[in-house]
Amino acid sequence: MIVEAAPAKLNLALHVRTLRADGYHELETLFAFVEHGDVVTVEPAEADSFSMTGAFAAALAGEGDNLVTRAAASFAQRFRGGAHAITLDKRLPVASGIGGGSADAAAALRALGRLHGVPNEAMFDIAEALGSDVPACLLGKSAIGRGRGERLEPVPGRPGTPVLLVNPGVAVSTAEVFRRWDGVDRGPMALDPLAGRNDLEAPARQIAPVIGDVLELLAAQPDVTLARMSGSGATCFALFDSEGACEAAARSMRPGWWVQPTRLI
Ligand code: C5P
Repeated sequence: MIVEAAPAKLNLALHVRTLRADGYHELETLFAFVEHGDVVTVEPAEADSFSMTGAFAAALAGEGDNLVTRAAASFAQRFRGGAHAITLDKRLPVASGIGGGSADAAAALRALGRLHGVPNEAMFDIAEALGSDVPACLLGKSAIGRGRGERLEPVPGRPGTPVLLVNPGVAVSTAEVFRRWDGVDRGPMALDPLAGRNDLEAPARQIAPVIGDVLELLAAQPDVTLARMSGSGATCFALFDSEGACEAAARSMRPGWWVQPTRLI
């Protein structure tokens, strides 16, 4: 049995530059990953099966189609390898800007690849077809993403940095957030995320104003170095100088919000 971690993805900065003719947006983003995430297990079986456990399994089951089974179908079509029993331990909130579905798909590909001797490098085209963030999740390391997010350039990260993830419990549609972007190019991204922005924050806040409350509360915590929304939201994150400050901030969030202290990897 192969057990593969599906770490949550963060966009430390996300600059939207233009709307392309194909309907996608040209981005510059700084991807990072954290220790907390979902877990995918894969083992050879007589027949294909898929099951879910975890706090957010029910939320995902309600969505119908999921990226893990689509990833497995793409792998089977390209590389064969027979039937598999796949389980997903769903620990990340669904439709929340931290790439849960993309991380799961990438982890399923890595697990299937390990089982059948297919290197990760051979699966980037499958990953790209599954979604804009799936190649970054397949890489699983700090990287600049350009294009739809699929053109990746690895960059040094800051492993071990304490991070607090906070989700106010509102699912927001990525497509709808992008649709509400105002079309203004606010300029290129630098490597230092502190100098960057998330251009999807304003459109996401139109849909879910509570994101503003999360960001305000995170930014007010002692020893925060950066507080920002990830992806198309609604999950926000804060980077801290110390674990103690991160743990203390976790205790200061509103009851009912999903709050997860973790670290950059
Ligand atoms: O690629 P993915 O299926 O994850 O994207 C979901 C939706 O987000 C797309 O249908 C598109 O509306 C929007 N999107 C975008 N520009 C990107 C990535 C996603 O407009 N670079």
